[in-house]
Amino acid sequence: MEPGKVCIAPSILAADFTRLGDEIRRVEDAGADLVHLDVMDGHFVPNISFGIPVVEAVRRVTSLPLDTHLMISHPRRYLAAFRDAGADSVTIHIEVCPDPTDIMDYCRTLGMECGLVANPETPIETLFPYARQASMILIMSVQPGFGGQAFQSASLERIRQMRRWLDRAGSDAPVQVDGGINLDTAAGAVAAGAGVLVAGSAVFGAPDPAAVIRSLRC
Ligand code: DX5
Ligand code: ZN
Repeated sequence: MEPGKVCIAPSILAADFTRLGDEIRRVEDAGADLVHLDVMDGHFVPNISFGIPVVEAVRRVTSLPLDTHLMISHPRRYLAAFRDAGADSVTIHIEVCPDPTDIMDYCRTLGMECGLVANPETPIETLFPYARQASMILIMSVQPGFGGQAFQSASLERIRQMRRWLDRAGSDAPVQVDGGINLDTAAGAVAAGAGVLVAGSAVFGAPDPAAVIRSLRC
């Protein structure tokens, strides 16, 4: 990732799954930097999305990095399978791994980057001890489980605090924000310190995704 550049990670949850390959090529051509894959297990979150075979299929149609957001209760069990499917990075919820040091080391052993994520109601301080090890910190700006929800503005202060903490720790890991990002909310998130914006409906629902991606970068 280029320093200072705001990266856009379209979430395929909002894509038309009957033509997933075309949808991914469309956002790649439109300038997406990463592909965000929302894996849900119906246990950690009250919804089921897709798993390893879809990651594998996405890997075959794009060379963009695959940013795999694991909304699952037992991430460790599946890390090697996600790596084999072609995931470049995984993001693990602190709520299911209160001490993620070992799992982050394991991800690196597998050759993947490892980010950490906190739900809106999880104290942001729970992430602070891992600022130096995490390749990215994701701040959820909606309850995980569904696309198309409204951005929670309380996330802005959490992004600010996280960015400040990473800077103090000497980490240039980006803060990623996920949920309700669109042309109205992106600028505030970037001003607060977000470097990676996940956007599902705003990108896949747009007639001209390239224009949306350009505007989301601010
Ligand atoms: C929510 C997911 C998000 C979601 C974003 O559980 O983690 O990535 O798909 O969707 P939008 O951009 O539509 O809010
Ligand atoms: Zn996500």
